[in-house]
Amino acid sequence: MPCPSRSDELVFFVNGRKVIERNADPEVTLLSFLRKNLRLTGTKYACGRGGCGACTVMVSKRDPTSQEIRHFSVTACLVPICSLYGAAVTTVEGVGSIKTRLHPVQERIAKSHGTQCGFCTPGMVMSMYTLLRNHPQPSEEQLLEALAGNLCRCTGYRPILASGKTFCLESNGCQQKGTGKCCLDLGENDSSSLGRKSDICTELFVKEEFQPLDPTQELIFPPELLRMAEDPEKRTLTFHGERVTWISPGTFKDLLELKAKHPEAPLILGNTSLGPAMRSKGHFHPILLSPARISELNVVSKTNDGLTIGAGCSLAHVKDILAERVSELPEEKTQTYRALLKHLKSLAGQQIRNMASLGGHIISRHSYSDLNPILAVGNTTLNLTSEEGTRRIPLSEHFLAGLASADLKPEEILESVYIPHSQKWEFVSAFRQAQCQHNALPDVNAGMRVLFKEGTDIIEDLSITYGGVGAATVSAHKSCQQLLGRQWDELMLDEACRRLLDEVSLPGWAPGGRVEFKRTLVVSFFFKFYLQVLQELKKLIKPFPVPNSRHYPEISDRFLSALEDFPGTVPQGVQRYQSVDSHQPLQDPVGRPVMHLSGLKHATGEAEFCDDIPMVDKELHMALVTSTRAYAKIISIDLSKALEIPGVVDVITAKDIPGTNGTEDDKLLAVDEVLCVGQIICAVVAETDVQAKRAIEKIKITYEELEPIIFTIEDAIKHNSFLCPEKKLEQGNIEEAFEKVDQIVEGEVHVGGQEHFYMETQRVLVIPKTEDKELDIYVSTQDPAHVQKTVSSTLHIPINRITCHVKRVGGGFGGKIGRPAVFGAIAAVGALKTGHPIRLVLDREDDMLITGGRHPLFGKYKVGFMNNGRIKALDIECFINGGCTLDDSELVTEFLILKLENAYKIRNLRFRGRACLTNLPSNTAFRGFGFPQGTLVTESCITAVAAKCGLPPEKIREKNMYQTVDKTIYKQAFNPESLIRCWNECLDTSSFHNRRMQVEEFNKKNYWKKRGIAVIPMKFSVGFAATSYHQAAALVHIYTDGSVLVTHGGNELGQGIHTKMLQVASRELKIPMSYLHICETSTATVPNTIATAASIGADTNGRAVQNACQILLKRLEPIIKKNPEGTWEEWIEAAFEQRISLSATGYFRGYKAFMDWEKGEGDPFPYYVYGAACSEVEIDCLTGAHKKIRTDIVMDACCSLNPAIDIGQIEGAFIQGMGLYTTEELKYSPEGVLYSRGPDEYKIPTISDVPEEFNVSLLPSSQTPLTIYSSKGLGESGMFLGSSVFFAITDAVAAARKERDIAEDFTVKSPATPEWVRMACADRFTEMVWNYRLFF
Ligand SMILES: Cc1cc2nc3c(=O)[nH]c(=O)nc-3n(C[C@H](O)[C@H](O)[C@H](O)COP(=O)(O)OP(=O)(O)OC[C@H]3O[C@@H](n4cnc5c(N)ncnc54)[C@H](O)[C@@H]3O)c2cc1C
Ligand code: FES
Ligand code: FES
Repeated sequence: MPCPSRSDELVFFVNGRKVIERNADPEVTLLSFLRKNLRLTGTKYACGRGGCGACTVMVSKRDPTSQEIRHFSVTACLVPICSLYGAAVTTVEGVGSIKTRLHPVQERIAKSHGTQCGFCTPGMVMSMYTLLRNHPQPSEEQLLEALAGNLCRCTGYRPILASGKTFCLESNGCQQKGTGKCCLDLGENDSSSLGRKSDICTELFVKEEFQPLDPTQELIFPPELLRMAEDPEKRTLTFHGERVTWISPGTFKDLLELKAKHPEAPLILGNTSLGPAMRSKGHFHPILLSPARISELNVVSKTNDGLTIGAGCSLAHVKDILAERVSELPEEKTQTYRALLKHLKSLAGQQIRNMASLGGHIISRHSYSDLNPILAVGNTTLNLTSEEGTRRIPLSEHFLAGLASADLKPEEILESVYIPHSQKWEFVSAFRQAQCQHNALPDVNAGMRVLFKEGTDIIEDLSITYGGVGAATVSAHKSCQQLLGRQWDELMLDEACRRLLDEVSLPGWAPGGRVEFKRTLVVSFFFKFYLQVLQELKKLIKPFPVPNSRHYPEISDRFLSALEDFPGTVPQGVQRYQSVDSHQPLQDPVGRPVMHLSGLKHATGEAEFCDDIPMVDKELHMALVTSTRAYAKIISIDLSKALEIPGVVDVITAKDIPGTNGTEDDKLLAVDEVLCVGQIICAVVAETDVQAKRAIEKIKITYEELEPIIFTIEDAIKHNSFLCPEKKLEQGNIEEAFEKVDQIVEGEVHVGGQEHFYMETQRVLVIPKTEDKELDIYVSTQDPAHVQKTVSSTLHIPINRITCHVKRVGGGFGGKIGRPAVFGAIAAVGALKTGHPIRLVLDREDDMLITGGRHPLFGKYKVGFMNNGRIKALDIECFINGGCTLDDSELVTEFLILKLENAYKIRNLRFRGRACLTNLPSNTAFRGFGFPQGTLVTESCITAVAAKCGLPPEKIREKNMYQTVDKTIYKQAFNPESLIRCWNECLDTSSFHNRRMQVEEFNKKNYWKKRGIAVIPMKFSVGFAATSYHQAAALVHIYTDGSVLVTHGGNELGQGIHTKMLQVASRELKIPMSYLHICETSTATVPNTIATAASIGADTNGRAVQNACQILLKRLEPIIKKNPEGTWEEWIEAAFEQRISLSATGYFRGYKAFMDWEKGEGDPFPYYVYGAACSEVEIDCLTGAHKKIRTDIVMDACCSLNPAIDIGQIEGAFIQGMGLYTTEELKYSPEGVLYSRGPDEYKIPTISDVPEEFNVSLLPSSQTPLTIYSSKGLGESGMFLGSSVFFAITDAVAAARKERDIAEDFTVKSPATPEWVRMACADRFTEMVWNYRLFF
């Protein structure tokens, strides 16, 4: 129970200013305190679980042992404010500001084009800033490590790294191929058809312009905190919150006393385990004991036989300690330390390692713990202390299993951890496999140790421990015992594998599923260990031949590849684009790599997002109550307990809606039944977000289950459950063609869904006005007009009373087209009912649960072809999982069918598609709109044809590609010239054919590692297939001082549309961009806008802006003619005097686009974007891991409006596509509950996933007369090129299967996760697992 006594004052510093908090609440995090109390909104919320880095800040403290000031990055969402006593916090606002002085980190990330939506940028800045505080000239590896805990969904990371590299010692040009020199300097591309060297630029920013880093300019550690740290009194500090008390003793003795008094109270160190459990599992602790000020827990002592590390040391500190010991001691003594170091490099991100303590890690005993398996096999001892005295217990399997007899007593604490040195003839190794290499919880990990009888290969002692295979870390003790006395040979290996499979039995319900994969890893890891040890034994035994020693079987070079892990490599690359014409006036920004208009504000945290808007008078918060059932009748809703919670104002249900409640099939708030888990039923309105969230837990809803419940496409087909009629396109005579071909192949392709994972979750602020039912809505949306319209019909208020404002959106990718209207409308009902402004900010978990994403797809194909690879007939049938309402599913089906042919001319075609109705949250628009899923079927089909013809896939692609002016399957004429050019350029710049041979060579030499290479062409149609969607308007005002305000119908989502619009206005009005400004997108200035989507936002709005500017310039013409030498300001002044209107509306009537589905004909798309990508990967057949060796993209951007922005779009989309096809996997419970609801379970690419070499070229000298200045919209197309990584992986898998004599035509499944890769590379270990399964 919280003590009633008074709270102490919590004193800490933020950005050099003292903060005294007299009522510090232990439940308040630093993130919430910064944003709400101090109004420092630069630090962002994106996940709340330490998994994304958006909330990164720097904490500085004086180290109680060394007395040095330490700076470390932390995720503010997991830092309780009470832990900050005596600390100095630096946020992005404290680093620099556009109003005063920019910090070089901020300047460089913006000018290197490292910001798109800018939501992740403050976190990136703080991670880099902290690195530079500790290492002013870091290595590139340190940079990569510092950024590995920060996610970005927009940029593809390359430009962020580029900005960081400018601080690194070794940064020098593109450093391609490890030569340290730029390939262009080497003259390698002189003969390339990319054009003359002088036309091609490879710099997107000018490094020389950057201000230097001056470490002396940084904020100093506040002297007052130094004095506080010396506090001789060391009194206990207590902070009482509403529900929780925080006690921070000043001495070790007091800590032990408190632990004896409150044995149930946890010790809180990094809060990286307690925090997430309190947040998402509802764990509650009324008292928390913080040992942060106890120096005894940070003591490190070295002895001759081992190392004792204080339990309070952070994992980052442990890493440094171990690295130091490894450098001091002979190799044989540091086996355990090396194994720990290996895992410490990939365990979480830098921020978490800075926060998490060794003690907290051990005591948490997570089943996935990366360190406990190694500590356990390394014979680690735990030094425990209580008032009663001290004792030592082994970190044994019993301790890990939580057996009371082997555990801490409630009043004990872990003081330190003793890790002994290893000895000669002893070997320790660590293994881990996760969805991606870094910053991902492991699927399975292991620690393994063997000790041999001196001078022999006889096993004297053996320990093997696994994580991720059960509820706790599991020891294979029995197997190890049975192997004692055995020789280290193949027979032992075989027996060991069988015993391990027997002992480490994973139940079917094992956490996270993936049972067979995990079991395969259990034995694959042991095999790796076996080989590693064999290698070491050979080295040891050779110089000391011992009596009776055997001849060791040579490990053939082909098998040695099993030993190596993929090293973390810092990506390099070149971006090529055509420079503007040398005659273009310098002032004209079109075609130049102009920085994102908000770049600097993103970097300083001054760019305002929806939830950064200061609290409005009488504002209330809303939280949503969602269905826990997939398909059920709502029997009753009991709100009484929720309404009793202090601060709760109201609960909004369907009955409160004055107008229409969505549509009959897609209700805003559920009425009588629910159709999926996550459907919104009602919404609580309370004074604070915390109260609103607590109240939703108290609402009792009773349900009656309905049937049938359908989740999968297969079930939907079985139940004939569809959302709309089939869409079909056909040409030629498919049946006849199938009869005339040499071969026919049929196959199936599964493509998983994808979560948008925009960094800024859905959020809206609705402000009701006092007059005429007016409402102001600030919303993160791609379609404010849709929000406005939906709110109007929901409230039954005319549209003209509602104004939607969009300043900027923290990423949309299609996920903020339809859904924001739902949240806006529900919040508006709350605002109308209560008369208060309502703020609704979705938690990451809720956002992922409620909003749906990309449609999963199941495709079947039948392809008929000649033996030379010419495809004569192709029949594809696709089903997408639309979820429980129509949303955009019909349109996605149409687009998918229209785009299925991709780059290929096949005379006889039949494409059919249907959207399935299931009991999952409704899927919606997502970058590429069906193309990335559908075309994977087409390309898989090509790969299958190649395999049957015994030809490389690229040959089949070439043979069947459009070659001349032609018509698509829907009879739209087009010229494929640019497609062919992209393809040839890509083959050329990537040296594809040479590398194909090198890959084959590599594969011959390596059995356990295989390489794959693939090149994929793309014909991507932009735009909507309806004329009415191709219109845009703009409003341009010139003010009397000459400044110009531009407004248009597009929304800034990070894609740089506002920057491009000002480039257009600048060219048209012939004034510098500095005269121009865009404030926001608002339904009051430009009405009836179209969603910013389908890659044509800049095209259409650009034409509207151009039109408005041309109208204005025409009006100014007589004045300019009269005074040609005058200035812009003089002309404007004269125009005003002469009563010439200085405001104009611009309009673009848009492209004609239509599709007649009856006839299967139309002109649905204004134009195509062409491209090609080549990727090479290497897979580890034993674990399923892969590394991306190189990607080359050539994209036809025509005359890019802004090459920096366009290359950014291509790279960002490519990396997002790579995520779709390799790591992003949605997992549901059997009841239809989405498991993957945060960055822990759902892995979007991190900075470590960028290909080691990543080159992007914009195809020069191509033209399209249709669009503004002959530019092209590139927002979506790059997404599909991510499939080149997928096909490179399948190429590598095929090589492995071929070598193992297994059928090459395996079922294609995306994402190609490590699980899929491992199981597809079937071998003796997978066989053991399957046989075991059959046997038992
Ligand atoms: C985003 C994220 C990613 C992660 N990734 C990984 C990963 O890849 N691999 C991995 O292995 N782990 C990972 N973790 C888990 C992380 O390693 C643990 O959460 C962390 O080590 C716990 O340490 P802590 O100091 O934060 O513990 P806290 O949360 O502060 O405390 C945890 C528990 O330990 C007890 N405790 C702490 N110290 C003592 C002591 N001295 N004596 C007695 N009891 C004590 C507390 O009472 C409490 O019950 C991740 C965590 C996060 C948030
Ligand atoms: S919001 Fe803190 S790490 Fe994601
Ligand atoms: S710029 Fe990184 S998330 Fe948008």
